[in-house]
Parts: sequence; C-alpha cells; structure tokens
Amino acid sequence: MSESVRVEVNYDDLIPNNVNLSSDRRLLKALEEWHPGYIDWWKDMGPEGWNDKEVYLRTAVGVDPKGWAVFDHVKMPDYRWGVLLAPKVEGRTIPFGKHKGEPVWEEVPAEYRSMLRRLIVIQGDTEPASVEQQRHLGATAPSLYDMRNLFQVNVEEGRHLWAMVYLLVKYFGKDGREEAKMMLERRSGNDDKPRILGAFNEETPDWLSFFMFTYFTDRDGKMQLESLAQSGFDPLSRTTRFMLTEEAHHMFVGESGVQRVLERTCDAMNEAGISDPYDIEAIRALGVIDLPTIQKKLNFHMSVTHDLFGAELSTNAAAAFEAGLKGRFKEEKLEDDHQLYNETYPVMQVVDGQLVEKDENAIAAINSRLLDDYITDAKGGIKRWNKAIAKLGIDFELKAPHKAFNRKIGQFSDINVTPEGEVVDADTFTANLENYMPSEADLVFINGLMKPCYERGQYAGWIKEPKVGINSQPGDFEYVRLA
Ligand SMILES: [Fe+2]
Ligand SMILES: [Fe+2]
Repeated sequence: MSESVRVEVNYDDLIPNNVNLSSDRRLLKALEEWHPGYIDWWKDMGPEGWNDKEVYLRTAVGVDPKGWAVFDHVKMPDYRWGVLLAPKVEGRTIPFGKHKGEPVWEEVPAEYRSMLRRLIVIQGDTEPASVEQQRHLGATAPSLYDMRNLFQVNVEEGRHLWAMVYLLVKYFGKDGREEAKMMLERRSGNDDKPRILGAFNEETPDWLSFFMFTYFTDRDGKMQLESLAQSGFDPLSRTTRFMLTEEAHHMFVGESGVQRVLERTCDAMNEAGISDPYDIEAIRALGVIDLPTIQKKLNFHMSVTHDLFGAELSTNAAAAFEAGLKGRFKEEKLEDDHQLYNETYPVMQVVDGQLVEKDENAIAAINSRLLDDYITDAKGGIKRWNKAIAKLGIDFELKAPHKAFNRKIGQFSDINVTPEGEVVDADTFTANLENYMPSEADLVFINGLMKPCYERGQYAGWIKEPKVGINSQPGDFEYVRLA
C-alpha cells in the first residue's frame, strides 16, 4: 500500500522540510540552534577553498519520484539542507523480528531507546566524515563536471547528517541534542576525536580513491540505509527511504568515474600500441593509470569497506533485528518467516587457521548476510567495468578481493589472506603487500597525475569525458563558476 502524494516543500525556508517543522516550535528552535554550528563545521571542514563559488547543484525539494529536485547554481554554504521523509505508508506494520505484524512505532519504544539512538548516531557519523575525507579534492579536480559531482555528493552527505540530526533532536530529547552536537565535534582521522568507524578515518588522497570510495564505501551506506528503511520505527524508515534516492547518484559517480579511468587507460594503450597491461612503466609514461594499480586500489577500498559490516556473528546486530529496528537487505522480498528463530545461515569462519563455511543461527549472522549481499551488489559494477575493458580489446579482468582479505574487524582479522583467498603466513603477506594494495610509489605516481583541469569541457589526460552531462547539460557547461 504505497501512496505517492506530492509533498509541497517551501524551498525558501531556512530548513526546507516536509515534516511540518513550523508547527513544532520546540523542534524548529533546536534545529535552528544547531544550524550555525553546522555552517561553521561546513566552512571549516567542507570543500576547501570553494565556498564562495557558484556550483550547479541539485537540491531536494520534494519526495515525488517524478520531480523531487531542482538544479541551480548556488554557493555551497547557501545550499538548502532540508529535512525530507518519504511518504507515510498507511497501515504499515513491523516487517520482521519479534514484533512482526504489529503496527509500526511513531515514537521511540522505551525499551529500545539506547539501541535505536546508537544506530542513528553511527549512521549519522559517517555522513560528515566523508565530507571531511574529501575536502582537499576540489584543488585537483580533473574537470568542472567532476568537481561539481564531488560537491553534489558532499552537500548531500551534509543533508544526510541533517536527516539523522532531525531524528535525534525530535525523538531523543536532551541526549539527542547532545549527540547532534558531537556529530560536529568528531573529525575524520583525528587522534582525539575520530569518526566512529575505521573506513571513515582513512584518507581520500586522490580522485581514483574518490571514485572507489563512492562506488564501494557509499554502497555500504546504501546497504545500511536499506536495512534501516525496513525499521519498525517509522520515522527512521521514512527518512532512510528518501536518503536512498540521493545515494543512487553517489554510486553513479563512483561507477562511472572508475569506468572513465579504465576506458582512458585502455584507449591510451591502444593508441600507443601497447597490449600488455603489465607493461606498467610504458603505460604510466602515457600519463594514465595502469590497470594493475587500479586493481590494487580496488582491493584496498573494497576490503576496508568490508570491515564496516562489523563482526560476522554479532549480538548487537541480532538484538537490533529481533527488536525490529534494523532488518535485512530487501527484507520484504525474502521468503522466510522474518523472525528466523529456527533458521540458519552459512557463515565463513576461521577454524584451525583455515577458512570454512559453517551454518550459524541466522539472527546471529545478520551482519554476515548483509556483507554477502553487499559483495553481490558490488560485483555487478566490477562486471560492467570488465565489459568496458574487454570492449576496448585489452586482456585484463578486475576482481573483487576475497572477503577475508585485509580485515581489521571480525573473524578474519587474526589471519592473513591474499586477495585470491589463500591463507598465508604473516611474513608472506607482508612481503607481498605491495602486490595487493597500492605502494607508496603507486600513490606518488597517481598523485603526480592529479593536476586540476578547470577549462570548460576539458578533462585531465587520465580520465575520459562522461557520456552525458548532468541534467542533460552540454559538454562545455559551466558546472562551477570560477569567477
Ligand atoms: Fe549519505
Ligand atoms: Fe553517499
């Protein structure tokens, strides 16, 4: 029973919203108090040096799939970060867990208050973290088109922070306001006050990293949002459902970005008559990134993202599922009883130093299952990249690293596994590290290519131009006004 009601949003409000903010003075006041701190954070930690430039951005002004956004040139600090929820589904019931079939909650159930707050805080913390990680990239953008996409992703991550802060402030009183404040205090990579999750404290040093990050790490975001969209706490479900609409663009930026890098490399190899993808020096001399190095970048970003799914067997994840707070990917399409008391799920584990799959209680294995769903989802793009490489006649295939490779969290953190899935001893692993992931020299080489290209319609030599413009704009469109 879904309804598609056109929700009117007043774009001129300080905080555009479809949650009737003006009728809740206390909430409006709390958000208005948070706003200046947010703007300070943005100016401090948002894209460095670009706050006074006009950028062609999409702003969400509604939640109707047919017309939810407007495009316009705007300075980023003036962006309208709004609060938007997907329409309420009348009669919705809790889809899973022990409360399955009961009406969804409109208020926070007292017994799940701290668990729910924690879920929202962890999700919320990732949003500003990625903006912080990407703040230097504007200085080396390969084109105005790419720069605009970076900033679009950044402002939308900012809006996602607003979405989570709205839930905290509206439903969690003083604690929520305190958490909202701390969202602006933690900093990616900071020793004293780091962001909560590891991958969000890594650097995004170059544009290939940015594309890999938006493809692989934003996809973790998608999986988490999909699971939260199932929540029995309806405001969380509606908030995350709308966030997913924006998230799709982030993954497009990643997938098309990596593909354009691959295509440029293959084109350059063909033009120079190089067919061996491992002829690295000759390929690098062409000013493009060789495919084996791209594979190493992929290994790094995908494995770091695997850690975001947490321990394979997790009592916290089990509790959140049982409570009806966080479901599974595509919960409603799964054909089981959605309570899982008698179900098992095969979980890869380490037994006597070897990788074996063992059936485990399906509730305990919720994280493991979400990770597997993530890997399947992520492999789709890798397949499309390989098609693009094959089409250009180069004999090379990108591969997803084994899920036990380079793990810091969970079952596999104590053993050494190659990207191919072979268990090796620590010395072998260390000795081969530079074959698995980018070496210092690889990073220096990539960094050397990161020269800004700000001419309208021009692209840096290591990346191909996009097939179409944003919002069907022509090739020489001024996505960012430099003057
Ligand atoms: Fe996000
Ligand atoms: Fe995102």
